Amino acid sequence: MSPVNVRVPVHDAEAILKIEAACRVVADVLQHLRSHVVPGVETLELDAIAEDFIRTRGGEPAFKGYEVDTKVYPYTLCVSIDEEVVHGMPSQRVLKEGQIVSVDVGVKLDGYYGDSAYTFAVGGISEDKQRLLDVTQESLQLGIEQAVDGHRVYDISRAVQTCVENQGFSVVRELVGHGIGQHLHEEPPIPNFVPGLLHRNRYPNVQLRTGMAIAIEPMVNLGLFHVHTARDGWTVYAADGKPSAHFEHTVVIDGTTPRILTEW
Ligand code: MF3
Ligand code: CO
Repeated sequence: MSPVNVRVPVHDAEAILKIEAACRVVADVLQHLRSHVVPGVETLELDAIAEDFIRTRGGEPAFKGYEVDTKVYPYTLCVSIDEEVVHGMPSQRVLKEGQIVSVDVGVKLDGYYGDSAYTFAVGGISEDKQRLLDVTQESLQLGIEQAVDGHRVYDISRAVQTCVENQGFSVVRELVGHGIGQHLHEEPPIPNFVPGLLHRNRYPNVQLRTGMAIAIEPMVNLGLFHVHTARDGWTVYAADGKPSAHFEHTVVIDGTTPRILTEW
């Protein structure tokens, strides 16, 4: 059952220290942004604040210039509002009371990466949206608890999916978490659902070992799980137009205790 053809990087102590340092900047950016995520702010302003912050700390924005297929992502942050799931682009749009806003940030520092996302409430939000945020964050915590030596990727997937679906919400299928280290995206993919039989070779059920670093990132829809990509080529949004939330932490496997590196 153990897939032999997937090589997952195992990082030594020195590399882990560097991933930790990158993740510290990521966590500090999100914490710093929190007070700026208010009604009236332009999402491009948030992007500028984040880029300044990262460069002041000696890092580089990991997403800016990142290539997917033939497209190059032009910003420091992904800012995804309400029904937008992930990869929303900063723009002259202004945040309004009642919205939920996922802010995703990656940092490269000294050759290593950190990656995290947090969905903020803009002022007061509806009960439905608050429940969506709470459940998504809880599913991330339950997924993280499974990130221990000897467990497998699907243990994380199952924990996230069960939590989300028990609350009547749905898990996005098209995008998944990932290994992280000297690249933003490394093996193994970390799906937030247990893949059906037909997809199991796409998402190998890798055994987790001390020294592996992974980004766990549930994307949870209040309605159905289906998503589309907008005409801008980036923004992924819920097909039914209902709200979506996204939380992400970079975690290192370390014996029986998962270490969250992007906590703030
Ligand atoms: N956290 C996201 C991910 O892991 C952000 C990538 S945005 C991109 O996929 F622009 F860099 F692709
Ligand atoms: Co990520």
